[in-house]
Amino acid sequence: MPDQREALITESFEIAADLCEDLTPLVYARLFREHPDMELLFWRDKNHQVKGEMLSRVISAVLDFAGERLYAATMIQCEVITHEGYDVPPDVFAVFFGTVRDTLRGVLAERWTPALDQAWASLLIELDFYVTHPDQSQTIPA
Ligand code: HEM
Repeated sequence: MPDQREALITESFEIAADLCEDLTPLVYARLFREHPDMELLFWRDKNHQVKGEMLSRVISAVLDFAGERLYAATMIQCEVITHEGYDVPPDVFAVFFGTVRDTLRGVLAERWTPALDQAWASLLIELDFYVTHPDQSQTIPA
């Protein structure tokens, strides 16, 4: 299942890339529509550069996390800590990852399959484990 899941997660981004030029405006429009309070967090990002850069790092991390997991698990733990400096609480991470999934589902429309849905659902649960356990000493494999 993990290999199949990696393929499905990758496929979801690949199909979206074929169907839409840039996910960035779609992801943040959905995020701010569903969670208007989150727009305030980005008050420093007047030219939208941080939002774009952040999403591209999130997508890279999700792809790594779904696959080889070379760095993404610890990166997520680090970002939970560094984002405290931006007043971003940990529970918002699940919202953001879920918004990426929902945006893909919207873009893929009828090409979104139950298998993709299942792959994303299980990935979101695993991602959240590292958000809620940012202390790396607790998550080092024995
Ligand atoms: C794994 C998840 C995340 C990653 C990899 C990530 C990555 C980053 C990076 C690299 C920056 C700095 C960009 C730059 O200065 O050019 C940043 C800034 C920021 N991120 Fe994230 N981020 C993540 C999750 C989140 C979440 C869930 C939120 C809340 C919606 C969030 C809100 C912000 C804010 C408000 C800033 C600062 C904007 C500013 O004041 O300039 N991030 N993030």
